[in-house]
Amino acid sequence: MADEANNPLLRPLPDGIVPAEEVARTEKRWLLAMVGLLAVLMLVVVVTSSIGAIHPPSNVERIDPTTLHLSGEFVESNLGTAQEPDGSLTARLVADQYAFVPNCVKLAVDTPVKFRLTSADVVHGFLLPTTNVNTMVVPGYVAEVRTRFTRPGVYRMPCNEFCGNGHHGMWTHVVVVPKTQFPTLAATERTSCVQQ
Ligand code: CUA
Repeated sequence: MADEANNPLLRPLPDGIVPAEEVARTEKRWLLAMVGLLAVLMLVVVVTSSIGAIHPPSNVERIDPTTLHLSGEFVESNLGTAQEPDGSLTARLVADQYAFVPNCVKLAVDTPVKFRLTSADVVHGFLLPTTNVNTMVVPGYVAEVRTRFTRPGVYRMPCNEFCGNGHHGMWTHVVVVPKTQFPTLAATERTSCVQQ
């Protein structure tokens, strides 16, 4: 009995001091609340991505950035806008420090459009204001975005991913013209609005 009275752990605590068990209990509750919050946030990500179709803006398609200019889809003669057999348009661009090639993309209104971009050096960004087009252009990958322009106009497109000292001067623009002003292209023909 005397031992128990002398044991400091069993002595009544002075006012204002919280017993260790209560501290542990409170900590456990907060930990549970935090884990719960994380679970809710994860759920929000999963639900919005499956229902709202919010997903990484591109497909996963690899390409060798060191040989873009030599052969394959992104050789210079294949850049610009191509017309597919079904009438839709495919615009191919290469981003490099500090330009997009071509720096003026010509497209037609009310037509399915597919952008295919890749980078020759570092990560760049491609964003068309007021449209769903917004993707990173990562070297080694092909970025693909599909859209359809509902009105003609000029969409100015500064690179929106910091890519070096010349980043602020890196831009292209997309000119959307009425269907009647868009040429009919042969299968191998490419068009752009770059001033010759
Ligand atoms: Cu390219 Cu910023």
